[in-house]
Amino acid sequence: NKFPLTDTFGRKHTYLRVSITEKCNLRCRYCMPTEGVQLTPKASLLTSHEIVTLARLFVKAGVTKVRLTGGEPLIRPDVTSIVENLCKLEGLGTVAMTTNGINLARMLPSLKHAGLGHLNVSLDTLVPQKFEFVSRRKGWHKVMEGIEKAIDLGYKPVKVNCVVMRGFNEDEILNFVSMTSERPLDVRFIEYMPFDGNRWDFKKMVSYQEMLDSIKRKWPNLTRLPDEEKGTSKAYKIPGFVGQIAFITSMSQHFCNSCNRLRLTADGNLKACLFGSSEVSLRDALRSGANEEDLLVVIDAAVKKKKKQHAGMFNISKLKNRPMILIGG
Ligand code: GTP
Ligand code: 5AD
Ligand code: SF4
Repeated sequence: NKFPLTDTFGRKHTYLRVSITEKCNLRCRYCMPTEGVQLTPKASLLTSHEIVTLARLFVKAGVTKVRLTGGEPLIRPDVTSIVENLCKLEGLGTVAMTTNGINLARMLPSLKHAGLGHLNVSLDTLVPQKFEFVSRRKGWHKVMEGIEKAIDLGYKPVKVNCVVMRGFNEDEILNFVSMTSERPLDVRFIEYMPFDGNRWDFKKMVSYQEMLDSIKRKWPNLTRLPDEEKGTSKAYKIPGFVGQIAFITSMSQHFCNSCNRLRLTADGNLKACLFGSSEVSLRDALRSGANEEDLLVVIDAAVKKKKKQHAGMFNISKLKNRPMILIGG
């Protein structure tokens, strides 16, 4: 097939999200089930060489952006060399990462040197005690330090991911907005999404419209910005502020029609959509000696099976999927 990364709806997949570990140094309630997850034995996880080999193939097939996720990607001991080797791939424009920020301040100088281009950092609260509640670990100050380090090292903007949950942090939205007044931050308010074991509840989800209304009451001059091409977010700015804010509206206004993403799990499965259980093992294909052409046949078949859009807010939570920690977002 000439267009192995184009699905039956004409969507071209140019963005690969690669989870490089199933482990995390936090235990966020919306991501990690209370009882934890069954970890894949190390021998069944992709090696750094396999990750780069598969990424190289995807780049040949048209991928221009790779984002490393987890678990927490900065937990993996060879993360810097993975970044470095990905950055050497010809045709790959961007290597990005989504991290919880705990190890960021310490590791960022070498990651930047390796070529890491863009950074998204998760931060759900500006109150240290609430951080400890939601993540079941200490570390708020470290995350803040990581964000400051990213700004200092010139990442612009640093995207801050804030999952908004009713009863937890919806009262902090305006404080997060204020963070963008003098810093080059792009604070993204994310609608709470259901994954296996995260006890999603419609009542805990705060919708885009509701968040927007509450921000507009304080900032009536809030201005919509043009959409990032194939982005997940709807961006806004308060005139005069250095940074901006945005909303990731996966639940109330999905953006599946412009989806350009594929996912590779730490155990080597290709997942064409964030939701649903459809997966195929590229690890097994690779380890049984498949060449590039064989692998592309497997990848093409998976991409061609991709659905037009996710099943809808109330159906998603009934579908079998992985816990978020084993997907990487
Ligand atoms: P950029 O590459 O900077 O656009 O970031 P991103 O928003 O794609 O990635 P990030 O890892 O920062 O994820 C932010 C939120 O968007 C998380 O809640 C993800 O689960 C969600 N997200 C990322 N990709 C997709 C997607 O393809 N579909 C849906 N529905 N949500 C996504
Ligand atoms: N709903 C919405 N976003 C989530 N994330 C993790 N779990 C959820 C969820 N249930 C976000 C994290 C991280 C990104 C990869 O996904 O905060 O920033
Ligand atoms: Fe793409 Fe699936 Fe996300 Fe929709 S829900 S944007 S199809 S990954």
